[in-house]
Amino acid sequence: MPLNHSEKISTTKRIAVIPGDGIGTEVTREAVKVLKAATSGRSAPLEFTEFDWGAERYLRDGTTLPAEAVAMLRRDYDAILFGAVGDPRVPSNKHAADILLGLRAKLDLYVNLRPAQLLDAALTPLRDRGTKDVNFVVLRENTEGLYAGIGGQFQRGTPHELAVQEDVNTRKGVERIIRYAFDYARQHNFGRVCMSDKSNVLTFGHDLWQRVFSQVKNEYSDIESRHLYIDTLVMEVVRDPGQFRVIVTCNLFGDILSDLAAQLAGGLGLAPSGNIHPGKISLFEPVHGSAPTIAGKNLANPAGAVLSSALMLDHLGLASQADAVRKAVRTAVREKHTTIDLGGTLGTREAGDWLAEYITKNPA
Ligand code: NAD
Ligand code: IPM
Ligand code: MN
Repeated sequence: MPLNHSEKISTTKRIAVIPGDGIGTEVTREAVKVLKAATSGRSAPLEFTEFDWGAERYLRDGTTLPAEAVAMLRRDYDAILFGAVGDPRVPSNKHAADILLGLRAKLDLYVNLRPAQLLDAALTPLRDRGTKDVNFVVLRENTEGLYAGIGGQFQRGTPHELAVQEDVNTRKGVERIIRYAFDYARQHNFGRVCMSDKSNVLTFGHDLWQRVFSQVKNEYSDIESRHLYIDTLVMEVVRDPGQFRVIVTCNLFGDILSDLAAQLAGGLGLAPSGNIHPGKISLFEPVHGSAPTIAGKNLANPAGAVLSSALMLDHLGLASQADAVRKAVRTAVREKHTTIDLGGTLGTREAGDWLAEYITKNPA
């Protein structure tokens, strides 16, 4: 028998927590603290299970992503909360490729949603720009492109060596992210989509993006559509970010653009992301990495991780709890109850405590 609405709402959500390396562990701890505060009023709280996948475990016993991980996550969990991976003791980045890129590929998390929303005009490096001017999302294709891991090396280490890294673009892969962009614009009343590629040079791979975009946009006549080459796009995003609402692009361009966008919106410490397959288990993580130089010092800003957990709450259908989390971060930023990167004086733990307390006093 199908569940009725109220039964569904009170269902326990099981969260797999992968703190990872460096500041990943510090910011994830605060995100869990805030999530507990945000959902304490629910009849069925969130259930958290932590996994130790990261550099420490890799260096200890060679494990990166265990063989059974993907099936277990699909079977037993509703969402994944991720910190960051990357450790100077693993220069090959092997564990990060297996764990993070592995989960994106194997769980087919084809959308990388990276919102850039300026919460306080004082935080943007752009002159004379306010909160209305920086409010867009980057939708990064997350399963193919130059991240497909196809390529090879020939005569490595010799004067004749050759290195090839293939750029993989499939019709299915390109179409589903472009469609997601239009649907996202519609659902969020964003009104316009800009697709960005380098089809003037990548005349095979990005020609496919051009043709798919031209076809799909016809199905969304209510949404304004536009195309810019990636070099022009980054220039325009800095010159006048207010013209953008939804930007859809390939994996590598999206990676680079999302750090730029994060800085326009106040810095990496604030930037959230969702690695999403609609309707399926998805992974939520801050845009930033493991920041080894500030790790272990209680300096990292937990807000990117906390805002990522709000995206996770959205994905789990807990919209009012997600809004309560976003309101807490907005208030903290405006009132300077923040870490030093945003001009405050709090440590990672204290910033997390402030957010959790605010939510407890101002519940969903
Ligand atoms: P990074 O994002 O870790 O750091 C870039 C800069 O931003 C540093 O100056 C850092 O101190 C600062 N910063 C980042 N997050 C911050 C926060 N929450 N609060 C305050 N300041 C913050 O990028 P990087 O230095 O190029 O990479 C470090 C490691 O992280 C590398 O191993 C890289 O591969 C990895 N990485 C992982 C992810 C991920 O897991 N998703 C993302 C990016 C980089
Ligand atoms: C990101 C990171 C990752 C990426 C790395 C760590 C593999 O930079 O999530 O933006 O390139 O996707
Ligand atoms: Mn990146």
